[in-house]
Amino acid sequence: MSDFEFTNNWFEQSSRARWDLLFTELKIKRVLEVGAYEGAGTCYLINKLAKAGGGEIYTVDTWGGGKEHLKSGIDMSAVEGRFRQNISRAVTKAGPDVKLVTLKGPSDFMLSALVAQQKAGYFDFAYIDGSHMASDVLCDAVLGFKLLKIGGVIGFDDYGWMEQPPSVRNPLLSPKLAIDSFINININKVTLLQSSPSQVYAQKASD
Ligand SMILES: C[S@@+](CC[C@H](N)C(=O)[O-])C[C@H]1O[C@@H](n2cnc3c(N)ncnc32)[C@H](O)[C@@H]1O
Repeated sequence: MSDFEFTNNWFEQSSRARWDLLFTELKIKRVLEVGAYEGAGTCYLINKLAKAGGGEIYTVDTWGGGKEHLKSGIDMSAVEGRFRQNISRAVTKAGPDVKLVTLKGPSDFMLSALVAQQKAGYFDFAYIDGSHMASDVLCDAVLGFKLLKIGGVIGFDDYGWMEQPPSVRNPLLSPKLAIDSFINININKVTLLQSSPSQVYAQKASD
């Protein structure tokens, strides 16, 4: 039986295969994760870094949910409870060489604080999967990119995510416009990597 409790398979469906590849392509030691939910990605990272000799993960979430979680009536305090239990098990298994920093709060505040703490250029991998609002995703992208070292990779989930039903779809409420804008504005500073309909990855070539 699994040691972990996840109520969805978002990570398995969207990220696991791409992250497996990323860990073979890149020497990853320091990871920034925006949007942890129940910690499926966080537990993967803890386990992966433990096997690779150690590393650091900074994970950011409000555990207040996005608009889509609140609309569907998800109990976010129960989600946070499962996150805490899952990561505690993963960290115990991993041992002392993996450092996990959990930052509870809005990503714009938390990422700006990391920049202010001289963490610009610190991370090998930044994964953006927090708020789906275009203005929030753009902010996470700009700050996440600043926190990424040259040669590091920034990844985005939910590239094709849209609100349902189609009649209420508004591009300002989805990540795509922000991801496209960020990539276009930084096209001379990134190399696009193998992506998928739901995820975009880019390697930082310069500041
Ligand atoms: C789709 S879930 C993340 C899923 C997770 N990456 C996984 O693979 O299981 C999005 C998360 O972003 C968080 N979130 C939404 N808006 C946020 C914000 N402005 N700052 C930080 N976290 C936010 C939500 O609380 C939610 O847990």
